[in-house]
Amino acid sequence: MKTILAIESSCDDTSAAVIQDGWLLSMVTANQNVHKKYGGVVPELASRAHQANIVPVIDTAIKDAGVKISDISAIAFTRGPGLLGSLLVGVSFAKGFALANNIPMIEVNHLHGHIAALFLKEKGIAHTDPQFPFLTLLVSGGHTQIILVKSFFEKEIIGETIDDAAGEAFDKTAKILGLPYPGGPLIDKYSKLGNPKRFKFSKPKVGDIDFSFSGLKTAILYFIRDEHKKNPNFVKENLYDICASVQFSIIDILIEKLTNAVLKTGIKEVAIAGGVSANSGLRNRLKAEAEENDWVLHIPEFKFTTDNAAMIAMTAYHKLLRREFTEHTVTAEARLKDI
Ligand code: KG4
Ligand code: ZN
Repeated sequence: MKTILAIESSCDDTSAAVIQDGWLLSMVTANQNVHKKYGGVVPELASRAHQANIVPVIDTAIKDAGVKISDISAIAFTRGPGLLGSLLVGVSFAKGFALANNIPMIEVNHLHGHIAALFLKEKGIAHTDPQFPFLTLLVSGGHTQIILVKSFFEKEIIGETIDDAAGEAFDKTAKILGLPYPGGPLIDKYSKLGNPKRFKFSKPKVGDIDFSFSGLKTAILYFIRDEHKKNPNFVKENLYDICASVQFSIIDILIEKLTNAVLKTGIKEVAIAGGVSANSGLRNRLKAEAEENDWVLHIPEFKFTTDNAAMIAMTAYHKLLRREFTEHTVTAEARLKDI
């Protein structure tokens, strides 16, 4: 049996998971609340929290999986991209664990992991893998890309943001509105109570499958500043409509670009991945578009959208089958490329 223990520590979630012969057995994630009041992740605080959380998180993942340490065939970890101090905690733990148990290490690119989340399966839960080639809209706090996935290991980025990521657009809007970090989940929640057509924000002018969100952020900033001058209670009185309108604008941009990518490539097998794919408005809109345009749509299970070690474990499982192991001299890479 091939059993992998995986660690994800690239940003502010400390996560561990165990996968056996391609089936997920356990996943444990400790979220860090320390960043809420700062409007974004504070790298130094994130590293410390990882250091405090990593041993109990791993211990629980192994126990939940019902395996023994001696059953583990390899230890996987996120090498990058991400925050260096956060990555170092996971990489260093993996080295210690590999040496102590005399097992190989497997490095994983975090973005590859988000795509691999689409292939995660658990016993007793219905699941359909995407068929190659397929398009993935990868939308997270750090990335916004359209990726042509040709096989598990062959990918091509065919469109991407020229500035901010979609998740940043949510998080920065939340900050402007005085909401805590991360902004996405709260904006999602408030949007359900508001009118998405109340306020209009103009669309960016970039290539047909590229993205830009910095203009939207500035437009929101100026809009709120101007309205605040007229009515100091503007945000409070219109919070739900503002959230719904901003979310509608972000989703509209994402859908337009994805539609362009489908038309350009002729590929109708379509998937989403990354933290923003948790957004209920985006998920609903995608389902409607898929229905209308005959796309075969793959949406990861909610718990696999934001950062988690299960997706790292799944990527590592495929690497284990190819015997792609990592040397003990490996270092964390904040800007790791080559997904
Ligand atoms: O993939 P992820 O956990 O971390 C990165 O690799 O960046 O994505 C985090 C991002 C944050 O920007 C967060 O606000 C956003 O995902 N996010 C959401 C939702 N849940 C998380 N954005 C919109 N709606 C949500 N429900
Ligand atoms: Zn991520």
